[in-house]
Amino acid sequence: MKKSNFCKAFTQQEAIPDAGLDSVIEVLRSGRLHRYNTLEGETAHAALLEQEYASYTGQRYCLACTSGGYSLHIALKAAGIQPGEPVLSNAFTLAPVPGAIDNAGGKPVLVEIDRNYCIDLTHLETMMQQSGARFFMLSHMRGHIADMHAVVGLCEKYGVILIEDCAHTMGASWDGKKSGSFGKVACFSTQTYKHLNSGEGGLLTTDDDEIIARAIIFSGSYMLFERHGTLPPLNAFDEVKFDTPNYSGRMDNLRAAILRAQLPLLDTNCKHWNERYRVLQQSLAQNSKIQLPQRPKQESYVGSSLQFRVPQMDQRQVSGFIAACAARGVELKWFGSAEPQGFTSRYDSWRYIKEQQNLPKTLELLATTFDLRIPLTFTLEDMEIIGSIIDDEVTQLFD
Ligand SMILES: Cc1ncc(COP(=O)(O)O)c(C=O)c1O
Repeated sequence: MKKSNFCKAFTQQEAIPDAGLDSVIEVLRSGRLHRYNTLEGETAHAALLEQEYASYTGQRYCLACTSGGYSLHIALKAAGIQPGEPVLSNAFTLAPVPGAIDNAGGKPVLVEIDRNYCIDLTHLETMMQQSGARFFMLSHMRGHIADMHAVVGLCEKYGVILIEDCAHTMGASWDGKKSGSFGKVACFSTQTYKHLNSGEGGLLTTDDDEIIARAIIFSGSYMLFERHGTLPPLNAFDEVKFDTPNYSGRMDNLRAAILRAQLPLLDTNCKHWNERYRVLQQSLAQNSKIQLPQRPKQESYVGSSLQFRVPQMDQRQVSGFIAACAARGVELKWFGSAEPQGFTSRYDSWRYIKEQQNLPKTLELLATTFDLRIPLTFTLEDMEIIGSIIDDEVTQLFD
């Protein structure tokens, strides 16, 4: 017998906190929306955000820019990528990641994922040996964090520079160390469905003097770089300011003001995501047909989305199951589709990558993997309803 349906939108974010609305009005009234448009003695919201986010992550430097994808692009450029160089990355990630590699002139070389949606460490080592890549853009896709000590160990062994894509791990950590502090550079997104929401936006963090100097100039600082919130010693710009192009991608003060108001709430929000995640996780765990990823004790994740697999499903059942859940108000995404849809695309649809790879393990896992967002506008009770609908529909398939 069918239980109740669900009627809330999976795309509905929480409102921007009042403090953010006040700051936004103030910025609008001032007319000084551009980050370098400041009065004598005034520090722009964009620069203050850089200070505050660097201090939150424990990194020395932060650069605020236009998007997460843009920050990945300039991270690679600042780390010294040369045209045509191979860059390792996960086969299961979002399109802006290989897009950023391509934009930086690199050649994406994809690596299999494991059953927990993390990078497959054995395949990673093989690809490090085979490709000779100097860069690894590790996407902590959907918030799943691989064994970071093992990842760093492999990067050190093969002399590979690690760039972390933390679009889904803002606020998360591995073994007590913040996600984004393992590599040379980390990139975060503040696009509307991420852990901080400014519609669009990106934050790049690093401890490296030369990388931050280059990233600042790339981001379009002109020669106003001294106005940035976190600065290396100024002599880091001596050469860099002459040999680094301006790829105009600054964050403006409106977005920065919105983000500054949300940052103090981030850790509490991460707890709220996890409460919701665990209710859904427990509900789905009761169904023996559903497989959930294991989350190691070192992984302090942020459950802003949940992935599960129903390995016994065939292709026909997959579309029927998605449609049945949708009819009851539960919006599932499926990364296994050969056709790119909505925000999702499988790696073999990135056909601009000249050397197409066959990654059977990733294909097999994605074929029966479903993914759903957990917006904070959902209550714990909502999560129970969603869990019971999914459970119900899976059970009916195999009755
Ligand atoms: C895993 C991942 N990396 C990077 C990005 C890029 O972020 P943005 O949309 O801010 O460019 C996204 C965006 O959704 C993402 O999901």
